[in-house]
Amino acid sequence: MGSLKKIIKAEFITGASDVKSIPRESLPEVAFAGRSNVGKSSLINRLLGRKRLAITSSKPGRTRQINFFNINDMLLAVDLPGYGYAKVSRSERRKWGELVSSYMRDRGVLAAVVVIIDLRREPNEHDLSLMDMLDDLGIPPIVALTKMDKVKRGQRAKRRAAIARALDMTPGDLILFSAVTGEGKDDLWKAIRSRVDELSGRG
Ligand code: GTP
Ligand code: MG
Repeated sequence: MGSLKKIIKAEFITGASDVKSIPRESLPEVAFAGRSNVGKSSLINRLLGRKRLAITSSKPGRTRQINFFNINDMLLAVDLPGYGYAKVSRSERRKWGELVSSYMRDRGVLAAVVVIIDLRREPNEHDLSLMDMLDDLGIPPIVALTKMDKVKRGQRAKRRAAIARALDMTPGDLILFSAVTGEGKDDLWKAIRSRVDELSGRG
């Protein structure tokens, strides 16, 4: 087994667009969730140092299935489809909920869920219901506030505090991130590694 300090392998394994195609558990997993277009796929690419591993798009709703990526044969990164895209029909929204909750429920290998929120925006009802879902499932989230490059330095702490308040969390526990500059990458890796270690009983 290698380490997660250097990414030598990052490979797409499979995409699941329905419950029955969710792969059976193998390696520890870290899933990435957030609103449509928030920057989930970009964050994953930056974290892994790969430009186009997860497909990104300026149009929301690009990732519609759960995509699994093998990292160094040690960890699976799981790109969840985004939620809250207005143009999605009610039945599709229900399908999203079913797919994502079926995936998260009883997933013994799930070490962490990274909840990604735009630093410029207030968490909305969908973000809050995801946080509730994680709470119900006993999965403590790692919260990453992305697109920090879009917020002036002097405003960042204030934005982080506002989002922390809305989530009922401690500001210092929210990780500022930018897929453009790579800021926050080390902090996020550190949080992920510690959860993976906890899961495998070394924490
Ligand atoms: P869906 O798969 O549709 O749910 O979207 P997503 O959450 O995967 O978002 P994606 O990574 O495709 O990014 C959406 C848009 O935001 C793209 O135009 C990205 O270039 C842009 N973007 C993502 N992260 C950042 C960031 O940290 N800073 C800036 N400035 N733009 C970003
Ligand atoms: Mg995506």
